[in-house]
Amino acid sequence: MTSAPHTVVTGASSGIGAAIARQLSARGHRLSLGARRAERLDALGDPTALRHPLDVTDEASVEAFLAAARAAHGPIDVLVNNAGLARGIETIAGADGIAWREMIETNVLGVLHVTRRVVPEMIERGTGHVVMIGSVAGHETYEGGSVYCGTKRALRSIAEGLRYETLGTGVRVTSVDPGMVETEFSLVRFRGDSAKADAVYRDTRPLTADDVADCVTFALSRPPHVNIDAILVMPTDQASPKRVHRRSP
Ligand SMILES: NC(=O)c1ccc[n+]([C@@H]2O[C@H](COP(=O)([O-])OP(=O)(O)OC[C@H]3O[C@@H](n4cnc5c(N)ncnc54)[C@H](OP(=O)(O)O)[C@@H]3O)[C@@H](O)[C@H]2O)c1
Repeated sequence: MTSAPHTVVTGASSGIGAAIARQLSARGHRLSLGARRAERLDALGDPTALRHPLDVTDEASVEAFLAAARAAHGPIDVLVNNAGLARGIETIAGADGIAWREMIETNVLGVLHVTRRVVPEMIERGTGHVVMIGSVAGHETYEGGSVYCGTKRALRSIAEGLRYETLGTGVRVTSVDPGMVETEFSLVRFRGDSAKADAVYRDTRPLTADDVADCVTFALSRPPHVNIDAILVMPTDQASPKRVHRRSP
């Protein structure tokens, strides 16, 4: 890997992805940033970064994004699969299935659509690093979150399988699995209902997007012979998805 790696970050328009982009920009990475709301990528303040529309659920969009990334900065050294979402808290019995499709298409198929187009080049070059932004939801399921949790559990298997499949090639694979992080995540989950979103973070101290970006930056900055397989990072106030310490009744 060169001293100024070419790093692709999916879902860089908000939250954790935006924080990763800011931290890696400060560390001199040459960035290719994608999201559906591409206009938001301009706000990240790195004029050298490629900022390009990307919908990870749409294979043509993935192809166009990666072609633009390679045209801007050459071969890809680092892929951060961050784009993802939870939608709704319906039980399986109470769901209509629309949100399931959206979560599976984004969190599982979206990651695969991007990864399978980047890893062959990494294998060929004998270097590369793939980072998955998973979740504590991939470690423990909660009621009303079974499909979101299932997508994040799938991501753990995909990361594990990729690590096995690339063994001996020099490619590294890291999962960063956070607990509660205050971003637009809950606003998206509750379909724009800010009262419900705010209640998630009420009277507790969640992680910040930068706390998660710190973990990514740490994993990426290890020497090539060191692979951080997985980081499960939680707020001190959270012991599991549903065990959250709140300071007032
Ligand atoms: N916040 C938490 O508590 C938490 C905890 C554990 C794990 N995570 C994971 O962290 C990742 C980032 O979430 P966040 O907390 O930063 O939430 P966020 O603020 O809502 O950011 C989500 C990002 O994903 C992008 N995205 C969603 N669908 C996309 C698509 N089809 N194509 C391209 N980009 C897409 C969004 O961009 P556009 O809408 O502009 O496309 C946005 O940039 C997700 O994978 C999430 O599951 C979050």
